[in-house]
Amino acid sequence: MKKNLFLFFLILIGRTAFAQQATKVTIVPKPAFVEKGVGLFVIDQYTSVVAKEPDAQKVAAIFNYFLKKQYGFTLRTNNVALANTIVLNTSSPAKSSNESYQLKVTNKGVNIQGSRAGVFYGAQSLLQLIQQKGKQLFVPVVNINDEPNFAYRGLMLDVGRHFFDTNEIKKILDVMASLKLNTLHWHLTDDQGWRLEIKKYPKLTAISAWRDSTIIGQYYDFKPFVYDGKKSGGFYTQEQAREVVKYAAERNIEVIPEIEMPGHSTAVLAAYPELGNGTGPYKVPGYWGVHHTIYNPGEPTFQFLQDVLTEVMTIFPSKYIHIGGDEVPKDEWKSSALAQKIIHENNLKDEHELQSWFINRIEKFLNKNGKNLIGWDEILEGGLTPNATVMSWRGEAGGIQAAKEGHNVIMSPNSNMYVDHAQAKDGKTEPLNIGGFLPLDVVYNYNPRPTALSTDQQKHILGVQANMWTEYVATNNKLEYMLFPRVIALAEVGWTKTDNKNYEDFTSQRLPVILESIERSGVNYRIPEANVVITDDAATKRKRITITSFVADSKIYYTIDGHKADNTADLYTGPILSPLTNGRPLTLRYIIVTRENKTSNEFSVDIK
Ligand code: ACM
Repeated sequence: MKKNLFLFFLILIGRTAFAQQATKVTIVPKPAFVEKGVGLFVIDQYTSVVAKEPDAQKVAAIFNYFLKKQYGFTLRTNNVALANTIVLNTSSPAKSSNESYQLKVTNKGVNIQGSRAGVFYGAQSLLQLIQQKGKQLFVPVVNINDEPNFAYRGLMLDVGRHFFDTNEIKKILDVMASLKLNTLHWHLTDDQGWRLEIKKYPKLTAISAWRDSTIIGQYYDFKPFVYDGKKSGGFYTQEQAREVVKYAAERNIEVIPEIEMPGHSTAVLAAYPELGNGTGPYKVPGYWGVHHTIYNPGEPTFQFLQDVLTEVMTIFPSKYIHIGGDEVPKDEWKSSALAQKIIHENNLKDEHELQSWFINRIEKFLNKNGKNLIGWDEILEGGLTPNATVMSWRGEAGGIQAAKEGHNVIMSPNSNMYVDHAQAKDGKTEPLNIGGFLPLDVVYNYNPRPTALSTDQQKHILGVQANMWTEYVATNNKLEYMLFPRVIALAEVGWTKTDNKNYEDFTSQRLPVILESIERSGVNYRIPEANVVITDDAATKRKRITITSFVADSKIYYTIDGHKADNTADLYTGPILSPLTNGRPLTLRYIIVTRENKTSNEFSVDIK
């Protein structure tokens, strides 16, 4: 009897500890409202997903896809709400935002309510709430009401500089979906490669999709350039592109294609030199930078672009088509008789107005076909076309100007949103990159609504986007390294209300959990520097050093002064006291090794 009572208490204590542990809610991006309850809901083999409406059934299928991927099993779906169920309900969507949802977890089951997009995001939050203990999966009792801060939450991926196959695109789309990002801006064409099959112009995939060589090292490393001698390229068939669009749509992600014009088009000119300004012969270049070879503004060019866009519009149902418009050197137009004739005939002031005229024609064509045009902020120069949406990349100035003129804007300033920039100040500790320095906190702390705009003007800020240019990113592994964790920070910039954002809270509470999950799903990421706190220890006159990793369950190996932190270094188990400094600066070096044995760079911090 006594023994039984003891056992009973043991189980009680065990369950209580279990339930307390389970109450941690670490959803990324942080939801608008979270009310934690007591207890948990256990997901077992008898749990089923209830989905009555066709929309809910579609979400159920994707929910099972993610469950299978993360935990190796799926749940039965049915349309009767019995006990032990996860109910997906799209019958009464909330009014505030198409993407808002309510998620209620009790110890008996789960209920998610919203539109299809909302329930999809509720299901993503649920997936992030699932915790595993041995073979058991459980979810803390909680009540969540959530909606996004911005309607547009995007990631741009440049596949022109380096090609990434559809498996990699889908892998990125899965992570984007889990982070509630809803737009993939697919940068499909650039000087160094054209990536989309266009049936009417087969040379785009036979010639423009390939270059015979790529420069070694950074643009500034060697002059003349030194080449690797390796053929590089690839393209998506229309069928593959449609498959990506469908895959994305199932995850509430819209794919916006970008077809660059009038610049960034050398690859096209290599196949169709008659569209250039007579400065050929052209070849698909294997070096980066802004190229001077641009389209001529003649009728055959418009015919070509309209034919291309006509095929593009059959693949991409998005409301927007991005036409680039950035970095267009005007020297070829300055010395072209044709360009000057068009300037004269149309009473244009200069080549900038010629670019506006060019973009205006394309906008009219897109609008006639029910599409809206997006361009980089250079489309402001020479006058903005009437209905254009501006993507502000050279800082915020272009976005601010466009919003003041009543145009819609997407903020992606290079100061905060260029994830091709280095992730450490000391470039030598990072893989080859374009330069610059964009640490995680600078992404996180970005507010896309400039204070220079009035509340009414701020309504034109549709949202925010990070840009992944890939001049120096040739592999999937490196692509993921550059994206994460910065794109996780982007997710909170886009979704979480500004008042509800807090970098310390993000890195200490949510980042460790999401990084662990990203690692478990086989996605690469850069292990961020730990939080190192150094204080004076008055009693010993030494420094007291606390090191906290942002990856859950990771180990830290460190040395102080002089030695490399490798696996012969000391394992960090708690705050350490430095040797006596005697005023001499010391260096702390450390590496972080995750549970899955992923090892970070060596990081160093001066102990002063
Ligand atoms: C850009 O970075 N050229 C838009």
